[in-house]
Amino acid sequence: SQPLRVGVAGLGTVGASVLRILRRQENALAARCGRAIRVVAISARDRKRDRGVDLGGLAWFDDPVALAKSDEVDCLVELMGGSDGPAKATVEAALGAGKPVVTANKALLAAHGVALAELAESKGVALAFEASSAGGIPVVKTLREALAGNTISRISGILNGTCNYILSRMEEEGLTFEACLKDAQRLGYAEADPTFDVEGFDTAHKLAILTSLAFGTRIDAEAIHVEGISAITPLDLRMADELGYRIKLLGVAERTKTGIEQRVHPTMVPKSSAIAQVMGVLNAVSIDADAVREVTLVGPGAGGDPTASAVVADIADVARGTAGLPFGLPVARLEKASRAAMQRHEGG
Ligand code: HSE
Repeated sequence: SQPLRVGVAGLGTVGASVLRILRRQENALAARCGRAIRVVAISARDRKRDRGVDLGGLAWFDDPVALAKSDEVDCLVELMGGSDGPAKATVEAALGAGKPVVTANKALLAAHGVALAELAESKGVALAFEASSAGGIPVVKTLREALAGNTISRISGILNGTCNYILSRMEEEGLTFEACLKDAQRLGYAEADPTFDVEGFDTAHKLAILTSLAFGTRIDAEAIHVEGISAITPLDLRMADELGYRIKLLGVAERTKTGIEQRVHPTMVPKSSAIAQVMGVLNAVSIDADAVREVTLVGPGAGGDPTASAVVADIADVARGTAGLPFGLPVARLEKASRAAMQRHEGG
């Protein structure tokens, strides 16, 4: 059968890794999908930057929307980031043209995920976003497919690699917040604007997506109470340590009597707990569900190759034709998300 011709919009750390992995795994992926996957075109701002990957033979588009609409492209991979502007326009153009989209863009999904899923559904094409939450951890497919036979009561975890890296190194090596953040940026973990990481918004974006998958609700990131880690000092970490605790930035969504409550904030966790052992750029997600009881997934939550691993899995789903509905059920059947968390917070 015909190869799947892929266009990649955005060639940062993750984009370059996607190209490398698709090349390295070319034969294995072709065997697994029953057809070849071929990147044919790319779009990025800077043509000259050395990305450590050979871009020879690829068509270069300055305008990602033109890439999305190109007749040469069957599937659009969006790795530009940003909740509005070019990323949104590019994804809409591809879906509007009846092309499947793979994206790692949690900010975009948190803001417009329901509308984009609706567009994908109306065109009968995939909108796949495994890489949008917890990097290399396959938590989207776990919630949507592997746990389809469960009623989920709670999800909680460490969803931002940058914050966990910063908190871990501040505690283990006594380094300053600023020095650790610089390293996280250098290693390609942090967002273009690291405020999203350290103020908890990136965790909130991911939590909003996971909540929707877990509870069948419409994404509502604004209902999340958010507090980040920028005010945490080495002294806070030392005091927690003396009391037998570590501080982790957690995202939690749970079913309560008044609805689904979502929150993001630094949390003291006992050093003996499993979550406290998750150090560095690792993320962890624990899911409480009626049949399986508890499942915990741990793995790298940021970085080029781990995040690209999830992107490539989605491209493989598209190539095979096995990507299902974005949220596992028709958008019309998603329930309204509860604003309980926000109300509770506002009420003090
Ligand atoms: N900036 C994000 C993080 C990247 O640190 O977790 C992965 O989404």
